[in-house]
Amino acid sequence: MTRVFNFSAGPATLPEEVLLQAKDELLNWDDLGMSVMEISHRSQPFMTVAQEAEQDLRDLLQIPDEYKVLFLQGGARSQFAMIPMNLLANKISADYLDTGIWSGLAIKEANRYCTVNVAGSSEKQGYITIPSRESWRINPNSAYLHFVDNETINGVEFPTIPDVPLPLVSDMSSNILSRPFDVKRYALFYAGAQKNVGPAGLTIVVLREDLLGKATFFTPSMFNYELHAKQGSMYNTPPTFAWYLAGLMFKWLKKQGGVEEMAKRNERKAAKLYQFIDQSEFYFNPVDPSYRSRMNVIFCLKNEELDEKFLQEASVQGLANLKGHKLVGAMRASLYNALPEQAVESLVNFMKDFSQRWG
Ligand SMILES: Cc1ncc(COP(=O)(O)O)c(C=O)c1O
Repeated sequence: MTRVFNFSAGPATLPEEVLLQAKDELLNWDDLGMSVMEISHRSQPFMTVAQEAEQDLRDLLQIPDEYKVLFLQGGARSQFAMIPMNLLANKISADYLDTGIWSGLAIKEANRYCTVNVAGSSEKQGYITIPSRESWRINPNSAYLHFVDNETINGVEFPTIPDVPLPLVSDMSSNILSRPFDVKRYALFYAGAQKNVGPAGLTIVVLREDLLGKATFFTPSMFNYELHAKQGSMYNTPPTFAWYLAGLMFKWLKKQGGVEEMAKRNERKAAKLYQFIDQSEFYFNPVDPSYRSRMNVIFCLKNEELDEKFLQEASVQGLANLKGHKLVGAMRASLYNALPEQAVESLVNFMKDFSQRWG
């Protein structure tokens, strides 16, 4: 069977090498005569998996010792509630940047727990840009400022870390591990695993340890960072298979040359696709070029009536999952770490050929 090039936004493609290793080890892991899925999370062999995964992630992102790394469940959406519950402490408000659909959903959830000050918004522009730093209205009394580093649906990404006088909190669900960054600039960052880390079911949270112990009294135990940190993310049974696979991914990333190498590849992949789209009279990308995502490339056919045909023909060519999110339509090619450069070359060749036949 040939594998297709999978441009899915998430759950997303994983490296063949990692999948083959998981397949090889599925029935008999670590010579135990059992699968890694079938052993206790508290057993020594699994503890080794868990510790190695954490250490490898620390090495990849150069996470300093004063930060805790949590391997949780509940997806990024649970973080939309856990963040205000744990970080508000004695404050009543939090600042949010509104730069896309995921920002909007984070704001909606935070509104249940605090007064949200939307410091800047690109909603009126249809979320195709990021408001200039000078225009942000920051409340200095807020507990933190939350932003979505990469808006998966709108294809908008922060090129650099925002400079703000508040503890910085970031949703990195769709671009974690895609480029190096200075962890110390953040109070907390988090990511659902199913895009750039591994399979769905695991959520990674990295936070400065001085933020622990401030959860509001009504915070459910499962939503309390301090409890998870104290228990080594094993307060309840963690998603062991997803954790193991994330560990394999971290080792794969290290072997490839780490996040520095990934950043170069991701830059090349995105540049190739955007350059092709920009010179074309058949396709266009609506996003402000200064804020275009390297991970999720949105593109539209000028003649929307050809959308279905485009998707059908692409699929026949082994180019899968190019349909845009239902809320914005058009096309979206997700170019996460595990997507090979060859996939983008094949996509560009197909797009060229399609435009020549239908343009
Ligand atoms: C940027 C971003 N934040 C949050 C989410 C929600 O993640 P989950 O489904 O893991 O809760 C997604 C999912 O696509 C996302 O792309």
